[in-house]
Order: sequence, then structure tokens, then C-alpha cells
Amino acid sequence: MMDQDRWMELKAWTSDPLLEPVDDGVLARLYDGSSILLRPVHPGDKMRIEEGLSSLSPQSIYYRFGRQLRRLTDRDLTYFTEVDQDQHIAWGAVDPDDPAEAGLGIARMIRESRDSQRAEIALTVIDSYHGLGLGTMLLATLHALAKKCNIETLRACVMRENHAVVAWFQRLGARPVEMDCQVILDWDLADSACRTDSAQRLMELSRQIQRLPSVHAYWRR
Ligand SMILES: CC(C)(COP(=O)(O)OP(=O)(O)OC[C@H]1O[C@@H](n2cnc3c(N)ncnc32)[C@H](O)[C@@H]1OP(=O)(O)O)[C@@H](O)C(=O)NCCC(=O)NCCS
Repeated sequence: MMDQDRWMELKAWTSDPLLEPVDDGVLARLYDGSSILLRPVHPGDKMRIEEGLSSLSPQSIYYRFGRQLRRLTDRDLTYFTEVDQDQHIAWGAVDPDDPAEAGLGIARMIRESRDSQRAEIALTVIDSYHGLGLGTMLLATLHALAKKCNIETLRACVMRENHAVVAWFQRLGARPVEMDCQVILDWDLADSACRTDSAQRLMELSRQIQRLPSVHAYWRR
């Protein structure tokens, strides 16, 4: 995550992300005014994910995978990209002006068992994009899709030292349980009791995403 002062400065600049449906996903604006394209992950994203890994700091790699990793195996890449978008849902973010380039961020949600209403989520944003609202946008996308596919609880398994992410999920209303080197955060999507600014902002974003025609089309495909 980026330096706190820089992040506050950028966030103050605009906290009103602009969402626009496009054929293959959603165009969104980040806190610094840059645009990103959010879209479902597909098998052609293998190279993008590999390049994305090389744009992560050792700390981000550790926070995401729980260990250091130089490259992903063919098996990992198949698992990350050849998803059914039902039991395993994955969306990613790319630069709309350069969609062939490396991925900027990725989010996945995997049901715990067939048709389970609880799904484990994982989020990754490349370090040069940290603090610009992309993680929020990806999480709002997962939240919107979860609402549409009968998932009631999102579970994040976060490394204990990853205090910023643990605190973020708690601001959203997730309940933390410490387990060995991780904090397990369960976020009940039906629970609307959480009134923090973070939760309200994310819900509003999710509602907007749920209404977008491209998300409907994706869902009904
Ligand atoms: C976690 C991650 C995806 C967040 O992505 P991001 O684009 O930086 O997230 P955002 O800019 O949308 O910020 C998300 C929240 O983090 C908080 N945050 C961002 N930068 C911060 C900082 N430097 N210090 C404290 N909090 C910070 C923001 O306050 C925001 O919370 P809010 O909505 O309550 O204000 C990204 O940091 C990442 O990829 N980290 C490495 C992998 C990882 O930790 N994954 C999570 C476990 S699966």
C-alpha cells in the first residue's frame, strides 16, 4: 500500500468514481483521474497475470500468496484464468488505452464447495496503483456479482501483518478471527448494520455496478 499522505491527497482529489458500461465490462475512474477497464478474466490473460506478478513488490507477493514467488507455474496460470465464472469468479483491471498490456489488478471469489453461499476472495493490485481506489473497485465488483449469484458471505484470509487490509475489511463490517499467521475475515453481505463511510461507499458502488447493462449481460450469458 502507498504512503499515507500521498494516498489522502489523491483520495481528496476525487472520491466519486465514474462508471460507464462497455461491451466487455465496466470503465471506471480512479482517485487520480485515470481510467481502468474492469472485465471478466479469460484464458488469454495468462501472460498479463505473469507480467502483473513481476510488478508486485515482495511485500505484496507475501501478502497475497503467504510466501515469496518468482513465477507462476502453468498449472497456477490455468487455475487463475480458466475459470467457470460461477463456482470460481474472477475479474481483472487493465488500462483501457493499452488493454494488451499487463494486468493492473485482479480479484477472485471461489465458492467453498459446490453451490456454497460462502466464497473465499483474494484481491491483488500492482504496487504502482496502490491507494488509488482500484482495490475498492474490484471488491465492489465482487460484492455486486456475489449479490447476483446467491453468495451471502465473503471470506478474506489476510496475513496477520497486513494491518491496513485487516482494518479495511473491519471498516466494511467483516468479523475477524485470528488463526495462526492469518486473520480470517467473514463479511456477511446481508448485514447492513455497518454505517462507516467505507461500507456506505462500497455498497453504493456495488449497487451502481449491479445496475450496469454490461454486468447484466455478463451474468445472463
Ligand atoms: C489490498 C489491495 C488489493 C488494496 O488495493 P488498493 O487499490 O490499494 O485499495 P484502495 O485504494 O481501494 O484502498 C482500499 C482501502 O485501503 C485503505 N488504504 C489504502 N492505502 C492505505 C494506506 N497507505 N494506509 C492505510 N490504509 C490504506 C484505504 O483507506 C481503503 O479503505 P477505505 O475505503 O476505508 O478508505 C492492495 O494493497 C494489494 O494488492 N495488496 C497486496 C495483496 C493483498 O494484501 N491482498 C489482500 C489479501 S487477499
